[in-house]
Amino acid sequence: MRADRPDRRIHFGGDYYPEQWPEEVWAEDTRLMKEAGVTMVTAGVFAWAKVEPRPGEYDFGWFDRVLDNLSQAGLRVCLATMTASPPPWLTRLHPEILPETADGRRKWPGGRQHYCPSSPVYREYATRLVERLATRYAQHPALEVWHVGNEYGCHIRQCFCDESAADFRRWLRERYGTVEALNEAWSTAFWSQQYGSFDEVLPPRLAPTFANPSQQLDYWRFSDDALRQCYLAELAVLRRVTPGVPVTTNLMPHHKPVDAFEWARHQDVMSLDFYQDPYDPDTHQGAALSFDVMRSARGGQPWLLLEQAPSAVNWRPRNSPKPPGAMRLWSWQAIAQGADAIMFFQWRQSLGGAEKFHSAMVPHGGTGTRIFREVSELGRELASVPEIAGTRSHAGAALLTDWNSWWALELDSRPSTALDQTQINRAHHRALFEAGVACDVLPPWGELSGYRLVIVPNLYLLGEDDARRLEEYVEGGGHLVVSFFSGIVDGCDRVHPGGYPAPLRQLLGLRVEEFWPLDEGASVSVQGAGPLGAVPGSGVTGDLWSESIETEGAETVAVFGDGELAGGPAVTRHSYGSGAAWYIGTRLEPAALRGLLDHVREEADVRPVLPGLPARVQATVREDDEHRFLFLLNHGDGEAVVRLPEPMRDRLGPDGSGPVSTVTLPPRGVAVLER
Ligand code: GAL
Repeated sequence: MRADRPDRRIHFGGDYYPEQWPEEVWAEDTRLMKEAGVTMVTAGVFAWAKVEPRPGEYDFGWFDRVLDNLSQAGLRVCLATMTASPPPWLTRLHPEILPETADGRRKWPGGRQHYCPSSPVYREYATRLVERLATRYAQHPALEVWHVGNEYGCHIRQCFCDESAADFRRWLRERYGTVEALNEAWSTAFWSQQYGSFDEVLPPRLAPTFANPSQQLDYWRFSDDALRQCYLAELAVLRRVTPGVPVTTNLMPHHKPVDAFEWARHQDVMSLDFYQDPYDPDTHQGAALSFDVMRSARGGQPWLLLEQAPSAVNWRPRNSPKPPGAMRLWSWQAIAQGADAIMFFQWRQSLGGAEKFHSAMVPHGGTGTRIFREVSELGRELASVPEIAGTRSHAGAALLTDWNSWWALELDSRPSTALDQTQINRAHHRALFEAGVACDVLPPWGELSGYRLVIVPNLYLLGEDDARRLEEYVEGGGHLVVSFFSGIVDGCDRVHPGGYPAPLRQLLGLRVEEFWPLDEGASVSVQGAGPLGAVPGSGVTGDLWSESIETEGAETVAVFGDGELAGGPAVTRHSYGSGAAWYIGTRLEPAALRGLLDHVREEADVRPVLPGLPARVQATVREDDEHRFLFLLNHGDGEAVVRLPEPMRDRLGPDGSGPVSTVTLPPRGVAVLER
């Protein structure tokens, strides 16, 4: 990771909380870490109260010994800035840093992350600590990467206190300049909301009815920015004191309060915490989408899986352990999708506190346990293929998503409140994933020229500039698929004038006259020859949404088969320039969406990584000038046989075995093959 240390390896380890244990245990920790193949640990995440027991009084002695102990064992440290959970003295001294909910209730200390992101007091105490920390450990040989905060926005997504209100007004002044511009942007002529000055503006606190949607949208933006300002304040200190050390912060998967694309611009390496749910048979598909976001957010650069559970978590209503092989499979899935580190929460299972029933690499039962055995086995395996680190993947397809649009889409007072951005994204991504197609995930302003297929699941909010770029993309020969309720509003949640979806009408060759969302549990039949006919059975269904579409140059590929819109277009295709733009006016059942996207893919010549893969087997490629790795992952319950396009070396197979042409994967089996 550090440019001045060009060692190539997949890092392996976990969150390490030595402060929860007597010092006698620390030597055993490092011994066991070596035994398990650990190369790096994350340290200090919740150590604030212990390193600064009283305001301005520091006790780093114990932490020096922790780092020295790790470094003597040859271990690297992902060093946390320790600011994720303010110590009790701070909130006693400054109760005003505590966050408030939209209905004015205070969130008290006693858990963690109990600070208002806009609080200057919190930021001051936090950066003061970071300054001390960075200065003290700048030259420490263990320091590999900085870990700022922890899961920003995990517990406090938005704060509505007076401090936040003041910060919001400052943010609005900067964004709009004048109160007239704000009034215009927020459409305050409606419901007598016109502001005479910025001083009158409040956060969208609990109101008698729908709060102004543009105000709500801006509050999502502002809150994301307030969290990011906390990160940036710490980053500025780290850049100044330890300029050569890379910086990251662990994001949560597809996490609404934190715009991963924006945050990516301020990190040296992306990192993600992902907790696969063993009770969800499709957990790996949700993970696949999040992993693709991580890889794409910094242009294909490898990322770090900074937290996952060795087995069970403690925070779902019912917490299943990971069955044998699942932890290995899901770890390899992250690597296959671009990760260069596999880390866990946490190293040693706590005896007390809220997470004592969360699994750890060293469980309550010690090292003679399945978990420790599986962890150590994985550590050995990862060490055997260090050349994977740094390799990259290439995708022919891209899926577009945008946090701004997500925030706007899910506000109240819409045609339907059942639209869920995560579900819609997942459905489209899944159709590519199941077809074995590599996919990047980009914001609408991302570079599209390298892709032959671009999918827009549901971009309700779309600026004219980005719409024009989609137009140029298709004109230049690109293939585009746009799903319903896209291109409806501008950046202020104001409807684009000129009929829906105005900025995309010419490109799609159609006009949507009325939205016709479907009632809960209702569905509509969709009939079409050609692309949809490829789906087994004749008619297919859509649910959630329908709309009355009038074509203006597009050809109708499928029509609604019943209901008020019977006979009207449901799926269309428009040849535009040298490319084609498809439109889907309902939520197609999964097999039909898959059939349609398969068809468009063929037109666009976007092929799966490996043709003829058995169901539930994932294949990805990572490569560089010297190596080309093919990863095969069996997410299914049965054995799967995969024929390789050419004989390849099985890098996880027995030493000295020759090239193979066929791979037999047991359930949860993994193979890493090299050409
Ligand atoms: C994460 C968090 C960790 C730990 C973990 C448990 O959200 O960053 O500190 O709480 O969850 O799964």
